[in-house]
Amino acid sequence: MSKSIEIKLNKKDFLISETDSKGVVRFANDDFCKYAGFTLEELVGQNHNIVRDPEMPKAAFADLWQTIKSGNIWKGFVKNSTKNGNFYWVYATVYPFTSSDGSQGYISCRRQASDQEIKTYTALYKEMKAKEQ
Ligand SMILES: Cc1cc2nc3c(=O)[nH]c(=O)nc-3n(C[C@H](O)[C@H](O)[C@H](O)COP(=O)(O)O)c2cc1C
Repeated sequence: MSKSIEIKLNKKDFLISETDSKGVVRFANDDFCKYAGFTLEELVGQNHNIVRDPEMPKAAFADLWQTIKSGNIWKGFVKNSTKNGNFYWVYATVYPFTSSDGSQGYISCRRQASDQEIKTYTALYKEMKAKEQ
């Protein structure tokens, strides 16, 4: 198996995706599609875990869902996989909102994580992952 490569975001990149109440993708902007390596058509209708990286600890997403389901904004560092098996780190802010049709939705806005933040969270998530069953 070839080694996965880290893709670095540029400072001005802003990756956005929107899901329904279950985490099914409803929209993703061009920056998100570009880094994920998927077209918008490939993403819409898929569970957002389509970009989940195997090294992400379950507790991070449990915390995300608990926070947004209770109507609060979640902020955190996320490592995502690209379609071809590479990865990129982001700092994400996830907002709950009510869509124009009255349904519950969530939006995630992501920007570049610093080298130091990536280093810190790589180590922390590795530790958390090691404690999982
Ligand atoms: C708006 C929104 C954006 C999300 N963005 C990501 C993401 O970029 N990467 C990711 O792995 N999970 C993301 N998630 C969490 C996924 O829905 C999912 O919980 C996570 O990938 C873990 O997968 P699992 O629930 O199948 O274990 C997002 C959820 C929401 C509501």
